[in-house]
Amino acid sequence: MHGEDHPTSEPTTFEAEAPTTRYPEPPSGIDPDQSKGWIARLSPVLRTHRAVMSGALALAAVAMSIGALVPLVTRNAIDNALDARTSNLSTFVIVLIVLGITRAVFTFGYRYGLYGMAFRIEYQLRTMLHTHLSTLSFSFYDRVQSGQIISRANSDIRSVQMFLTFAPIMAVQLVSFVIAIAIMVSINIILTIVAMVALPGVFVFGQRLRQLIFPISWIVQSRMADVATVVDENINGVRVVKSFAAEERQVNDLADSAFRLRWAQMQAHYARARYNPIIENIPRLGLALMLLYGGLEVIDGNLSIGDLVAFNLYIVILQAPFRFLGMLLMMSQRAKASAERIFEILDEQPTVVDRGGAFDLVDPIGSITFDSVTFAYGTEIVGGAEGVDSGNILDDFNLDISPGERVAIVGRTGSGKSTIARLLLRFYDTQMGRVTIDGNDVRDITSRSLRHAVGLIPDEPFLFSTTVHDNIAYTRPDASSDEVVAAATAANAHAFIRDLDEGYDSVVGERGYDLSGGQRQRIAIARTLLANPRVLVLDDATSAIDVQVEAEIHEALLALMENRTTIIIAHRLSTISLADRVVLIEGGRVVADGTHQELLATEPRYSAVLAASDSDGHR
Ligand SMILES: Nc1ncnc2c1ncn2[C@@H]1O[C@H](COP(=O)(O)OP(=O)(O)O)[C@@H](O)[C@H]1O
Ligand SMILES: [Mg+2]
Repeated sequence: MHGEDHPTSEPTTFEAEAPTTRYPEPPSGIDPDQSKGWIARLSPVLRTHRAVMSGALALAAVAMSIGALVPLVTRNAIDNALDARTSNLSTFVIVLIVLGITRAVFTFGYRYGLYGMAFRIEYQLRTMLHTHLSTLSFSFYDRVQSGQIISRANSDIRSVQMFLTFAPIMAVQLVSFVIAIAIMVSINIILTIVAMVALPGVFVFGQRLRQLIFPISWIVQSRMADVATVVDENINGVRVVKSFAAEERQVNDLADSAFRLRWAQMQAHYARARYNPIIENIPRLGLALMLLYGGLEVIDGNLSIGDLVAFNLYIVILQAPFRFLGMLLMMSQRAKASAERIFEILDEQPTVVDRGGAFDLVDPIGSITFDSVTFAYGTEIVGGAEGVDSGNILDDFNLDISPGERVAIVGRTGSGKSTIARLLLRFYDTQMGRVTIDGNDVRDITSRSLRHAVGLIPDEPFLFSTTVHDNIAYTRPDASSDEVVAAATAANAHAFIRDLDEGYDSVVGERGYDLSGGQRQRIAIARTLLANPRVLVLDDATSAIDVQVEAEIHEALLALMENRTTIIIAHRLSTISLADRVVLIEGGRVVADGTHQELLATEPRYSAVLAASDSDGHR
């Protein structure tokens, strides 16, 4: 056993088997300074794409400038070749073809660069968010809804990405806008003003439309979510729905919410139908004014036909910024809100972290101590000089477990049994007192080595949507099939796995629907057997297994407990009988400690708890 006084001389040969990283680490995080604006906070990410971004923008600037030159060439073609017949039309045709091809190539280049960058940023944000989420402590997951996190990972990242693609394109479009105006002014100032006079209307009506659409689009979105919820509950809850013969009611619910969605969508389209024709036709009004004034000028000989044709083409270029400016503003608002929601997660600090100088726990012998532990959920610091609060789950809790001992923890539902397991694995930190393993405070040990040394089998084990083999080999992906089969055999799971359609290669459903609770439990036991931890915690692990099957796997459980320190949290007498010693907890502390027989003889509260849970057990 190593004392806590010489952590620096600890051997650090602990090596968890884990798959190697196959993706490149994101090159940067976000700026941790929360007082900065969202773009500034993202700038470390954006900076890693500086080269691509400036390259793409340069290409875009060229492509758009060429676009702005085309009407000029057309003008010269008309004026010089067709009208004045001073030069050959084919020269202009060749010039236009060359400009067109160059523009196409540059447009391809900038789009390729820009979209590539956008998706790399999306990927980067996604890995960053996920990496960060995996560092966060249980207390975070207690607070947030998983649906919220998933939506942040999807739609919020997408809306930031879209803005980061769209905004630079818009910025560069201003270049062609400026060039176009410069050329137009150089041809005829008044005609330029006439051509532009109607364009602000595009912006104004566009804004009106957005003001109408924006709230409706929220309604549409939330109603779409309602429909999705009904469908989701219908499918995931199909067993309940059918067992109550409530299909018709579900169909009615769906029809209801689908109808409400239809109404909202109709409203949105009604608004679009009213405004879009106006927005689309305002430039034509400008065109008409321009043709009227320009035509007169041509008749008067102040303007050439080519000039008029060029203006005609420029109006198309000019309207774009008016159309998209409002959209850009809206996207930037959304992207800002989305970015802030993403930052909220990235700014979250894990509460349980390895402290500097934490050492690896190597080959522990497995003695465990809970030393005056006081703990409550959801509070950082509790108590003080006056001692403890009524909200404490554990209240001056003391327990010593020797290496290799098998201890059953018994107590009423909600008495804090699972909490004891969570503290041993350091899912949470104690408010007072300490939990030690081999005399080392768990806060001095690296979490990786601690959780490698302590294996937890929960009451509802989680199986991943993959094969049985991979689920068992989860902690040791390189384990051979023989090892996996041996673990499954010891967990009394081999027989039923062999009988599955594809044996160990059968994919277990999303929630393990294909398997019974007992079968899932045995796969989880095999998984833990293969991980081979020194300390084992069975948290109600046998509650889903029926008594008969439990009897069958008792041998497996006993084999599993061999040479390990084991904590058995259980209700069932047959499971408790696997332990050498039983502790009864109540009010956050141990109230009785001894063998099952002793407790039964001397502790009426013990028999009461057993009797109560026994009736539970026959649900
Ligand atoms: N993550 C959590 N956040 C807040 N309270 C919790 C959390 N987990 C458990 N509790 C509360 O702590 C108490 C003890 O829970 P638990 O240790 O799971 O009891 P047991 O396993 O003995 O049934 C219960 O009152 C429960 O409601
Ligand atoms: Mg529990």
